[in-house]
Amino acid sequence: MITIEQIDSIAKEFEERLGGVTDASSLEALRVEFLGKKGKVTLFLRELGSIPPAERSEFGKRINDLKSRVEFQIAEYSSKLKPVSGKKSDVDWTLPGIQPAAGRLHPLTQMIQKILEIFTRMGFDVVDGREIETEFYNFTALNIPLDHPSRDAFDTFYTRHGNLLRSQTSTVQIRIMEKHKPPLKIVAPGKVYRPDTVDASHSFMFHQIEGLLVDERTTFSDLKGTLAFFLRELFGANTRVRFRPHFFPFTEPSVEVDMSCFNCHGKGCNVCSRTGWIEVLGAGSVHPNVLTAVGISPKKYQGFAFGLGVERMTMLKYGIHDIRYFYENDVRFLNQF
Ligand code: DAH
Repeated sequence: MITIEQIDSIAKEFEERLGGVTDASSLEALRVEFLGKKGKVTLFLRELGSIPPAERSEFGKRINDLKSRVEFQIAEYSSKLKPVSGKKSDVDWTLPGIQPAAGRLHPLTQMIQKILEIFTRMGFDVVDGREIETEFYNFTALNIPLDHPSRDAFDTFYTRHGNLLRSQTSTVQIRIMEKHKPPLKIVAPGKVYRPDTVDASHSFMFHQIEGLLVDERTTFSDLKGTLAFFLRELFGANTRVRFRPHFFPFTEPSVEVDMSCFNCHGKGCNVCSRTGWIEVLGAGSVHPNVLTAVGISPKKYQGFAFGLGVERMTMLKYGIHDIRYFYENDVRFLNQF
């Protein structure tokens, strides 16, 4: 029958023998001698059955402790041993590693972040809106009455319950003015929808960023300065900006904003259809009817608003000729940003 002393002496013997191991093959021999089928530790385990039940668990514990200690030390020693001389390691450390495919932000998201960053630097807050809206927010409150011809330009998809998908982020102007009193200074990015046939420059869904400022002494030159600063930050300090009279129902006066072509600097090229100018924004002073619709006195407050298309900005900045690239999830396109 085995004794505790025998177990201790095998443990001691293993320690001594391990100290003498110098290479992988002598370590393997030692492993077989102690843990192999007929190994010293293995034989102990086999004899466990012949130990009287009262002592069996004490013996079992000691033998199993010894076994795990031997296994652990062999594994540890093995990892410290140098590869056997003459035989090269199987690993070629000079090979290039495997680069994990890292994702990145979509070019439209990057552009939205860039634009919002410029406006937040000017003190604008970023707010969110809804994509499902009512006629009131998309049209009526924005001074577009039911029978007004400009409804056509902003026509959209309707749901069965009389709601609609917003066709412009201008809806956020109303939502924000209903909840918050001036002074207000916000930008609102988001998706808009129009029943347009998809082609290189049209999509039934695209992104806009709306801006709104309402305060007690806001002038048209505040609008001009703000937008000129914005365009110069985005397209370069030499960018020139021009304001052309236009019509929008929710602003009066209204303008379309052009910037000098960043490609030809005004000489005329493909990018600017040979005009030297590129239209980039709609803007104007908030119409008194819009302020009245949300219970803000147009006598006390004035403001300006603007709206821009994110796809259009991104296409201009990077020379992208087809809006559909943005939505196809083709990594060959996306990887370029
Ligand atoms: N909502 C207009 C559109 O979708 C863009 C726009 C023009 C927004 C003038 C404005 C603005 O806030 O003042 O075409």
